[in-house]
Amino acid sequence: MSAPIQIGTDQSDRPVIIDVEELLATRLLVQGNSGSGKSHLLRRILEESAGIVQQVVIDPEGDFVTLADVFGHIVVDGAAYSAAELTRLAARIRQHRASVVLALDGLEIEAQMRCAALFLSALFDAPREQWFPALVVVDEAQMFAPAVAGEVSDEARRLSLAAMTNLMCRGRKRGLAGIVATQRLAKLAKNVAAEASNFLMGRTFLDIDMARAADLLGMERRQAEQIRDLARGEFLGLGPAISRRPVAVRIGAVRTGARVMVQKLAPPPTASPDALHALLHEDLHLDEAAPPAPPPAPMVPAADELLEQIAAVPLDAVEPVEQPQLFAPSQAEIDLAVDRILIDMAAEEGCTFQTPAKLFQDFSVRCRMQRLTAGHVDMATFRRRFAMAVAGVSDEPGGPWQDILRVAQPLADDLLAPFLVIARAAQQGLPCPDDDELARVYGTSSPGRIRRLIDHYERSGLIVVRTDFSGRRSVSIPELGLATEPLEA
Ligand SMILES: Nc1ncnc2c1ncn2[C@@H]1O[C@H](COP(=O)(O)OP(=O)(O)O)[C@@H](O)[C@H]1O
Ligand SMILES: [Mg+2]
Repeated sequence: MSAPIQIGTDQSDRPVIIDVEELLATRLLVQGNSGSGKSHLLRRILEESAGIVQQVVIDPEGDFVTLADVFGHIVVDGAAYSAAELTRLAARIRQHRASVVLALDGLEIEAQMRCAALFLSALFDAPREQWFPALVVVDEAQMFAPAVAGEVSDEARRLSLAAMTNLMCRGRKRGLAGIVATQRLAKLAKNVAAEASNFLMGRTFLDIDMARAADLLGMERRQAEQIRDLARGEFLGLGPAISRRPVAVRIGAVRTGARVMVQKLAPPPTASPDALHALLHEDLHLDEAAPPAPPPAPMVPAADELLEQIAAVPLDAVEPVEQPQLFAPSQAEIDLAVDRILIDMAAEEGCTFQTPAKLFQDFSVRCRMQRLTAGHVDMATFRRRFAMAVAGVSDEPGGPWQDILRVAQPLADDLLAPFLVIARAAQQGLPCPDDDELARVYGTSSPGRIRRLIDHYERSGLIVVRTDFSGRRSVSIPELGLATEPLEA
């Protein structure tokens, strides 16, 4: 066993172990009536494995926020963020491998579903290099993956169910291991329940749930009666991460409480959760290039309210509606608009540090907002034109930068901007840009990368670097017969 944790003891007081590594691959389903001890069991698993694996808790009742006090989980209050912020937060949680509790107790049920769906989907959508293993614990999972339509809108149910299905069916490859707990198996969507290979069944009263639990445990129906007789905190366990035969387990003690925290258990706060909190929240509202969030649920006012509102608006106060464009813009107009978008984007601080994919997405959104289709500018073209915008160089025919662009032609897209900045300085008879400026344009904070970049330009025969006796650097571009002024060291 590679990552064993003890969840409790069996009838002979022997430890019952869960193998967390196996759990990552085979997922867990917990069932038991309200009060049977499911949340306690989840807490035990979370506490015991906190030092081993990243954890994400979807917490509809705000029970698990106390994990923060002892184990440093970051509490994310679902009610406090916009959809876009929550998406970014989830992306950073993947990136920084932070253990978090998404507390949803401040929200109505439908908002809880939307919030959880958004959050889970963003975790799921993390780029491949961030597919680190994490336990994703969903308490009261029947709320998020209901077997039948309920009072909430179809759309909220669909979003939430899709996110839960993704988690359980396709999460494994992405490192996400679903652990779901439900009061009633019959209320949980079948495809969500079916993906778990490990089960912990607690006290269950209803025959239909008991029968399904017994089926999952491979027990005869008449044996199933014992599920009814289980005490609070007792579960029957089965599965590759627990035991090959059904084992009765009494779940052990926990260190954190539900909500109310015993003061003496809390160690003084350490620096790292704070640092992590700052890392997750820094500039959360500024990260413009994050994927667009789904629109919020429309508020539907009652019909009589609506009529009142309409009646209350004086007729002359109605603003003229912006007309859709009647003429298709000419290519020159499109080019001009695209140039302007690129210049705006290039002027934004930190833009060069964004990934090309994010930048292109931002570009596409800006184009759509101006009713332009980004279709005629593909990713490769965009990257070159963005590099040109960053360097302040345009490709207007007969314009001043044509020669420079011709020389730069063989350069890969990501190496283009720093070269253009140097060449532009040379053409304008300005000093060679310093390393800080080159680093900004290149989108790096590593001086080593700038040195290697300049070496690369030099080896490709694009530039010749000359350092004079007083240490001042100048760069010439032999093919164009241009040179920058020396940069004061
Ligand atoms: N194994 C256990 N040992 C001690 N107390 C337990 C145990 N399991 C549950 N409890 C207590 O029983 C109560 C109900 O448990 P809880 O986990 O909230 O049930 P559920 O989530 O199934 O509704 C809680 O006060 C909890 O602390
Ligand atoms: Mg509970």
